[in-house]
Amino acid sequence: MEVLFKMIKVIKIRCEYKENPIGIDVLYPRISWQLKSDVRSTVQSAYRLQVSKDENFVSNVVWDTEKVESEQSIHLEYKGITLESKERYYYRVQAWDNKGNTSDWSETCFWEMGILTINEWTAQWIMSKEDLDIAKAGPCPMLRKAFEVSRKVKAAKIYATSLGLYELYINGSRIGDCLFTPGWTSYKKRLQYQVYDVTEQIKENKNAIGVVLGDGWYRGYLAWAERRNTYGEKLAALIQLHIKYEDGSEEIITSDKDWKASNGPIVMSDLYMGETYDARLEKDGWSLPEYCDDDWNSVDILEHTKEILIAQENVPVRVINEIKPIELLATPEGDTILDMGQNMVGWLRIKIKAPAGTVITLQHAEVLDKSGNFYTENLRSAKQTIRYITSGIGEEIYEPHFSFQGFRYIRITGYPMRLNLDDFTGRVIHSDMEPTGSFTCSDELVNQLQHNIQWGQKGNFLDVPTDCPQRDERLGWTGDAQVFIRTACYNMNVAPFFTKWLRDLKSDQTKEKGVPFVIPQVLEETSYSSSAWGDAAVICPWTIYLCYGDKRLLEEQYESMKDWVEYIRAQGDNEFLWNTGFHFGDWLGLDAKEGDYVGATARDFIATAFYAYSTQLLKKTAEIIKNDADVKEYNNLYNKIIENFRKEFVSPNGRLVVPTQTAHVLALMFDLVEKKDRKLVAKTLAGYLEESKVHLTTGFVGTPYLCDVLTESGYLDLSYKLLLQKDYPSWLYPITKGATTIWEHWDGIKEDGSFWSKDMNSFNHYAYGAIGDWMYSVMAGIDLDPEKPGYKHINIKPQPGQGITFATGKLESMFGEIKSAWVKNAEGMETNINIPSNTTATVVLPAANVVAVFEGENSLEAVEGVSNVEQLESGVKFELGSGEYCFKYKL
Ligand code: BGC
Repeated sequence: MEVLFKMIKVIKIRCEYKENPIGIDVLYPRISWQLKSDVRSTVQSAYRLQVSKDENFVSNVVWDTEKVESEQSIHLEYKGITLESKERYYYRVQAWDNKGNTSDWSETCFWEMGILTINEWTAQWIMSKEDLDIAKAGPCPMLRKAFEVSRKVKAAKIYATSLGLYELYINGSRIGDCLFTPGWTSYKKRLQYQVYDVTEQIKENKNAIGVVLGDGWYRGYLAWAERRNTYGEKLAALIQLHIKYEDGSEEIITSDKDWKASNGPIVMSDLYMGETYDARLEKDGWSLPEYCDDDWNSVDILEHTKEILIAQENVPVRVINEIKPIELLATPEGDTILDMGQNMVGWLRIKIKAPAGTVITLQHAEVLDKSGNFYTENLRSAKQTIRYITSGIGEEIYEPHFSFQGFRYIRITGYPMRLNLDDFTGRVIHSDMEPTGSFTCSDELVNQLQHNIQWGQKGNFLDVPTDCPQRDERLGWTGDAQVFIRTACYNMNVAPFFTKWLRDLKSDQTKEKGVPFVIPQVLEETSYSSSAWGDAAVICPWTIYLCYGDKRLLEEQYESMKDWVEYIRAQGDNEFLWNTGFHFGDWLGLDAKEGDYVGATARDFIATAFYAYSTQLLKKTAEIIKNDADVKEYNNLYNKIIENFRKEFVSPNGRLVVPTQTAHVLALMFDLVEKKDRKLVAKTLAGYLEESKVHLTTGFVGTPYLCDVLTESGYLDLSYKLLLQKDYPSWLYPITKGATTIWEHWDGIKEDGSFWSKDMNSFNHYAYGAIGDWMYSVMAGIDLDPEKPGYKHINIKPQPGQGITFATGKLESMFGEIKSAWVKNAEGMETNINIPSNTTATVVLPAANVVAVFEGENSLEAVEGVSNVEQLESGVKFELGSGEYCFKYKL
């Protein structure tokens, strides 16, 4: 049992969402913490924050807030003296509560600044001299330098980045566990560097530093049509090692003309295509100081800007899980296949003992075809093929370096011995976002759906939000990101992830301020500005603000948001409608014409609907950042758009002229029709669903909100029926076909086992996973209050429905864990609710009668923490303070 403490404690302290980050370039970092108390209705009454260069806070205190009466415990902005480049700052927090308690000082945390001015970058971009055929993937260059350290080292840090991807080594060991560094940004404008603490690795006397470079997004295959060299043709490294000695002196070792270069065992490596590794070409000890590099070439210096350098913004990509294959299969065609039991993203680590020169080939696929044979056509030109050529020396362990695969099945050829499943390990990689949410309920298929949604997120949040992780695409499609972001925020902390991506979006906006289809933009210059895709510019920052209370992101993105709305306004003749240009429409909607990708909902309807929505969010943003002139401006614009929308798309009697499910969903969700007409619109939508025996026809645009609008309009039963539907098309249909991730198409695998077209058939496409939002907010009943974002005030309203007997949702918010769990049985309802300290909630217990609700022995009104009890037609509503509660009532 956990020990109860009456005191309060400050826990989970973060700087810019991160635990002790090294190398940030935020000049006014924000500090967040949680308050832990076992006493109900605890609210912070005051805080004190101290920041110091001295770990003991004795000297060098750069900021001391003293005691400040305030409830603020998230995003407290540093306002002390100017922060210095490369310095480490220690900080600690003390808090007071409304019950007269004072916490101890929290544990001491720190953040460390990155390189703040460009002149401090004295390193040079270095590259291999070798002239390669850049029309195809070639060997990965290795660069090295030996150096001497003559005094005792106090601290050593490496600041590193590359054009292409890099892996860093010192004295024979890999540095750090981050993958695919320096990450993917809009490289022409923004390039992240990483900082590593290497104090332990640097030895007195002889040392060596080594770097391996890979093509990655910079120079490798990117997008379809076998495009390469998107950002440049030369791979290069920029490295700076700063050593502080015990005697107070400092030394900097940099990448420069004295480095040496060679090729090694990685014969080719590409994100899509795979990797070929010839272990016979390994250069044993190549990053050790004593290695003889006489036959290595000198390096060339590359003239390349350093103006674009920024500190790491996102959380890094890492190996997050390992899974073991569940089965070895022999296919009818005679292939040997490993089944991982899960469609995953990452790679296979193999262990092998075989004579030198044995070539083992691993090909990766998501599915087997209906006869049980290996199927790769949906990968299009992405080869996803790993080739390992053994050295023949002892037991060899290998995993790829600069390539990842989306797969469940691996075809193995050339394997010389009996296959032992133990020798294979699936290494699951993604951006290392903190898991924050969980959802379970009484239906196992729905639980599998939740699993699939989370695995869709894992597989596609690999430094940028991608559409899919396997075929020759893997791009930051804006529409997909916008559709899924709210669900993503439940499952994991995605604030740093989207902060970085939105800065790329902003920097990739076109001259006209349109938003490219994919961010980072790597398609043709003209590939920009579809409605519902470009609206990511507004919807994403707004969602991060709501879910994490991140007002700074709104301030930062404001111009970008406004530019997008103004871009739309400038299109066509009527500034209040959007009826021109290219749009993806209700992508993959099932009411599409035979053979078409685009659903039946008129594109100008969708475009104008999103125009109204983005304008409304922009207006709200202007309110939050207190830009009064813009509030007025965009309020007017919004009203005009609504007026024009109604003239164009709503009949005088309140009927929508676009007779599709998606049109009705958008009209309700974005509040586009008059109040008096909502009922009719909702009824029409419900009618469409009844007609189709409760089956959806919606695509990317309509699906995310379908259940939300039905629930909100009084058709909760229909939303449950839709969710629990098992035949095609439905969320559970793919699960009946064995899906372990979300599919791009409702019928990726058809009833008869055949596939949807090979051109566009991803089995790991998170967009339709957007139903997760409804599962958390309606089934479990955890929702936020836009007036007090970041869950400072929480709305708890579980809404049980036919077919489900219990549901549990948990969410680790910025303030701590929120829980809402209900069970319904013959005795009635039991609802367990946890509200974190320093937050409050409004709770609605469905179908409850005030007099029937108890917590233990106490009737509702006598429960400590409960106030403002109100009997509604739909249940009992009340305010709740922090704490853990168990309410029971008869129905
Ligand atoms: C992607 C989608 C994307 C779409 C644009 C596809 O190729 O995989 O998810 O949004 O193109 O319509």
